[in-house]
Amino acid sequence: MTSHPDLERTLVTTDAIQARVAELAQQIDQAYAGADNLLLVGILRGAFIFMADLTRALAVTHAVDFMALTSYGKSTASGEVRIVMDLREPIENRHVLLVEDIVDRGHTLNYLHRLLRDRQPASLRTCVMVRKERPDVGVPVDYLGFTIPDVWVVGYGLDYADRYRTLPYIAELKASVYRK
Ligand code: IMP
Ligand code: MG
Repeated sequence: MTSHPDLERTLVTTDAIQARVAELAQQIDQAYAGADNLLLVGILRGAFIFMADLTRALAVTHAVDFMALTSYGKSTASGEVRIVMDLREPIENRHVLLVEDIVDRGHTLNYLHRLLRDRQPASLRTCVMVRKERPDVGVPVDYLGFTIPDVWVVGYGLDYADRYRTLPYIAELKASVYRK
């Protein structure tokens, strides 16, 4: 069901997202059972909807915080990322789970992983909603929602020029929209 005229096709339905979020939450609950200082770090803006669903599906006690990033220039192609909002507190000795919307070339997650690892958390893992099918980009993804084709996708927090974020499913954007 793809109802928006700018969309090529639905890649992940609302039902599939909800079922997968519940499964991921179960895996995370099991992995962190007994951990009393779990911190979920959501990356703004793309991860805000995934984060909201995931955090509410977790049974394990945890806190949430957010970081906001921007990339230099229009795309992340250069791999240069800049922090525009950092965490509020040190993460030393905390169990940190990084929550990202999407891994494309892997620059963003690699950058964040290095940055947070250097702050000496007790542990550092990553949870990613979707990952594009690409040759290995060397990013450690511990909890993954879905692997999708290498196309531009929107919905469930993902945008194109700040649009389409609130679509409740993940869909491929028509090439005619972003080549305009
Ligand atoms: P990477 O650094 O190449 O892995 O790119 C990751 C970032 O680029 C994500 O956090 C998104 O902000 C953005 N991005 C990459 N692919 C898409 C897409 O298909 N739709 C929306 N945003 C994307
Ligand atoms: Mg992002």
